[in-house]
This record gives sequence, structure tokens and C-alpha cells, in this order.
Amino acid sequence: MERKNCRTTKMQVPNTNVPYKESTLLYFCIVKLKMNIMKISNFLVSIAIMSAAPAALSAQKGPEWLNKAIFYQIYPSSYMDTDGNGIGDIPGIISRLDYIRSLGVTALWLNPVFESGWFDGGYDVIDYYKVDPRFGTNTDIVKLIDEAHVRGMKVCFDLVPGHTSTECAWFKESSQKDPNLRYSDYYIWMDDISEAEKNEIKERHKEPNPESSRRGRYVEANAPRAKYYEKNFFECQPALNYGFAHPDPAHPWEQPVDAPGPQALRRELRNIMSFWFDHGVDGFRVDMANSLIKNDYDGVEIRRLWAEMRKWRDEAYPQCALISEWSIPTEAIPAGFDIDFMIHFGVDAYRPLFFAKDSPMGHDANYDYCYFDETGKGSIETFVKNYTEAYNATHDRGYIAIPTANHDFQRPNVGRRNTVEQLKVAMTFFLTMPGVPFIYYGDEIAMKYQPGLPSKEGSNDRAGTRTPMQWTSGATAGFSTCEPERLYFPVDTDHGKLTVETQEKDPNSMLNYVRSLIKLRQSSAALGNNGGWKLLSSVEQPYPMIYKRALGAETYVVALNPSAKKVAASFGTLGFDKVKTVSSSGKGSYKPGKKQDAVSLGGFSAIVFKMVE
Ligand code: NOJ
Repeated sequence: MERKNCRTTKMQVPNTNVPYKESTLLYFCIVKLKMNIMKISNFLVSIAIMSAAPAALSAQKGPEWLNKAIFYQIYPSSYMDTDGNGIGDIPGIISRLDYIRSLGVTALWLNPVFESGWFDGGYDVIDYYKVDPRFGTNTDIVKLIDEAHVRGMKVCFDLVPGHTSTECAWFKESSQKDPNLRYSDYYIWMDDISEAEKNEIKERHKEPNPESSRRGRYVEANAPRAKYYEKNFFECQPALNYGFAHPDPAHPWEQPVDAPGPQALRRELRNIMSFWFDHGVDGFRVDMANSLIKNDYDGVEIRRLWAEMRKWRDEAYPQCALISEWSIPTEAIPAGFDIDFMIHFGVDAYRPLFFAKDSPMGHDANYDYCYFDETGKGSIETFVKNYTEAYNATHDRGYIAIPTANHDFQRPNVGRRNTVEQLKVAMTFFLTMPGVPFIYYGDEIAMKYQPGLPSKEGSNDRAGTRTPMQWTSGATAGFSTCEPERLYFPVDTDHGKLTVETQEKDPNSMLNYVRSLIKLRQSSAALGNNGGWKLLSSVEQPYPMIYKRALGAETYVVALNPSAKKVAASFGTLGFDKVKTVSSSGKGSYKPGKKQDAVSLGGFSAIVFKMVE
């Protein structure tokens, strides 16, 4: 059984090592001395992590199954509802596994399924060891894992290590007056903060809403334990205490990373992972992976933490994957992650391609036009510079994932990028880049980002990207038997066009295009996760974007034109006599020459060429 890999170690129970309470005074007497030692040791750790030889690391490129992995991300509340309450559930996902497998994907990433307070779409966890009752039971999720494995697919969960819900039992206990209880040091409590910080809280509370709740660092709790706690995201998400990289002696609540509380939390983190790995889970996407250590200005301590987890994973669960939401692959992958996303924050690479100022979620974007835009006024310069740098630095030790979208930002079908021709060009890009592809549920049928939906469960403007999967035409799109008003979010099938049912029957649909691209990718290592990548066209003339994918004897060229205009480009010859078109959407040609090869593409066209000797 596939699952065996992840069940090689003995079942572990949640951590029973009660963090003993040592005198905090003792810690802060040695803090000053430590800070000096840390400065030197941090430097040495950085050198050790960053300079490990690529050749040695290529042997450690994570579990072997990642070589051909293609992920499908599911937001469980929105995938398939079987009990008619308008919210998706685990039996619903199980009922759709054959469909998912039919896409050709090999792995699932599920957004959080743990018991939650539902003030942040599941990212406010109450109990990491229990599936939320709205989705089903732990038995249901094990069944889902087993059924996915039977179909040759892996299942990764979402791990939220940086914060819990305020409704978590750990937090409730930690807020008690007695600071010596088992979970007392799992959180960061203080009685006083600066005047500026107090004012910030006042300002934030002038218009309390989920968006303002993200601002600032502290929350006024007036708990028996102390007046304030540190949060990690929304106010309802108190930060878990992995310690401070540079504890300030004037802030007695800042514990060093090796203090008993922070160390107990590391054990808890391993216990959570073991618990689920032992239930068959194949990996974790790690939420806000770089947020755990506070005041970690140079990032040394967070890299050290993940290097420790990676070592543990390699020894105990070598077949299980670690995927970071960090979005700086040059930091995340050397720190130990197998995959890091390149998304809407962090390294500036995704934004110039998909986010323009006038797109619904592009309000903080720097770009008047994004590259995947019909006007042809975008640029690939920033993407190419930052992607190339990250790719060169990481491709022999891990994978970059450029997802079609996710639960936090808009889908490709947004604003004026809304026809199937345009969206096929974007999809060709996602499915022909190196690294591990991630398809966000519904993007395979070109579902729309729905702007302007009311916020629910902390979604804010992310609501439009979390709408129910559209299976059939009809008022609930086959997602649920509930009344349409009870749907988790409204559906918009564009008169039945954006549904699985309609697109199954149409050979030219997005759905069938996605299937054919996945099949092509899986047929060739050169086009796959480990194949090489090189830009052939010039950044000065961004339309068309042309890149080479090659490995061993195989060479492919991908040519993309997201603009409405016909375009052409030439570049130094690749030296092949013949070229075969292996995937095509729109029009175009490739003419090999003695000195230069030339590509021309019609508007909204994407073609994959195979070079033949
Ligand atoms: C990132 C997640 O993707 C997002 O949905 C969530 O709101 C924050 N982290 C907080 O956990």
C-alpha cells in the first residue's frame, strides 16, 4: 500500500511532556550573554545552511514522488456537500475522487480540516488532532486518505503552526492566572506595551472588522494572566510561542528559542505532524511558515527551526512532503522545505504576471498592466529576473510552485482576462513551468473570481475565490441539495458553461485542455517538474514569451501570447531541423533557421513545440 511509507513509525499520542517551568529570571540573566553568542552562531548557521553544496543536496530533494507530482488544492467548505447544509464535507470530496483523478493530478492539498472557530476559514484552529465536525470525523478523513491512495494520489493537509484560535483549550489554559500550567508558555502574554502600540489598538478598534483585525501586533485581552497577548494574524489568532531570536531584557515575556515553553511547542508540532503522518497523510502545506520566531530580523532562527524539522522528517517520515507558504524560495528551500510557493506576496514574481492595479485583488499592485492581459502592455522583466534567481538557487534541492490561484487571491478568470482562449494561455504557463504545479479547484473549468461578495468567516475579498465548485447547471451547481440562499457562497456558472458537466462533453473545453496538458507534462521528464528552464525570448520584447524546457535528449519550446495582437520573435537557433507541435491553443508556427529560429503566434495563443533531430 502507498500509505505504508508514512506509517513506518509507531503511532504517537499527543505530547505528554509537560513543559516544566523554570525561573524566568534565570533566563533573562543570561539573555545578554546569549545575544552576543547568537550573533556569532547565527552567522555560522547561515553559512552552513546557505553554502551546502548543491551536488550533495540534490540527493535530498524531498520524497521521490514529488518528481512527478501535480497538486489539486481543495477548499473543503466549497467542494461538495453531501448532507445538504450548504457547506462542503469529506464524504463529498470522497465522492469526487474519480473526477479528480481523471484530471491526471497526483496529489491533493486540503485547506485546514481541523476543528476551528471559523473566524478565518479554518486557519483559527481549536484542535489539531480532530477533524472539524462540519466536515465529518477523523474516521472519514482516514477513509478519504485511503481512497485517494487506492487511486494513486497523495493527500497533504494544511498545518497552521503559528497561531491557534482563541477558543483552543491551550489558549484558554494559558490565559489563567497561574503561569505554571502545562500550556502557560504556549502563548506570549504581557502586562504593558508601548504608548504607540496602545494607540494602535485604539485606532484599530474604531472600526472593528476582520480587515482591521489584521493590523498591529498585540491584542487587549484583560485576561487573568495578563492584559495583552501577541497575535499572529487576526485578533482571534494568538501567536504560538516559539520564542524570540533576540529577546529584549526590557521585555520579560520574550523567551529565547531554547526556553522550555518554545521547545515544548516544537515537540507539539512534531506530534501533530506524526499524528497525521501515522494516519496516512503524505505531507503538509505549512501556513505562514516564516512567522514562527519573533524578532528574527535576519531569519536565522526560523531557518534553524525548519532545518531541525527537516532533519526529523528525513529520519522519521522520509516519504512525507513539507510545503511552505513563505514565497521566498531562496530562503524556504535551503531552510528545509521541499516546495515553496511563489504567490501574491514575498518575492515579486507572481504579481507582475497576474495582478494589475485595476484587478479586484490588485489594489496594492505596482503594475498598471499585468503580463497576462489582453492589452499586451505588461512586462516579464521582474518575473524573469526574480524567478531565474530563485530557480537557479533552488532547483537542485527543491521545487518552486506557481499555483493557478489559491484561497487567498483571485482566480485567473478575473476582470478582462475572462475568455477561454485567454485562460488557456495562462493555464499553459502554469502547466509547463518547472517545479510542482498546483491547480486550485475550479480553475480547471475556468471558474470566475466573483468580486464584491460579502465577507464570511474572515474571507474579506477572498470570498470571490472560495465559491462552491460548479458541477452542473442549476441553482446550486450540483454542489449541494440545499436552497440556493444557504450555499456557502453563491455560484456563477455563466449559464451552465463553467461546469464540469458541460465541459466534459466539449473537446475544446478548458477541462479537456487541462487534462491534455497534464498528460503531455507527465509523458516527458523534460516538460516535467525537474526539466530545465531557459527564457529564449527577450525581456525587452515580452510578447510572445518563449522558453525552453529540456532534459537529457529531449527539448521542448513553449510559446505564449496572452495579448490580443499577433506577435513574433526570433532568437539564436536551437539547432534542430524539425519541430513538432505537441499542444496548441490558437495559432502559431515555429521556423528553425541556420542562425535564428523564429516563432509567430496569433492573439491569445499558446503552443508547445517538440524539437526533433
Ligand atoms: C495564510 C492563509 O493562506 C490564509 O488563508 C490565512 O488567513 C492566514 N495565513 C492566517 O492563517
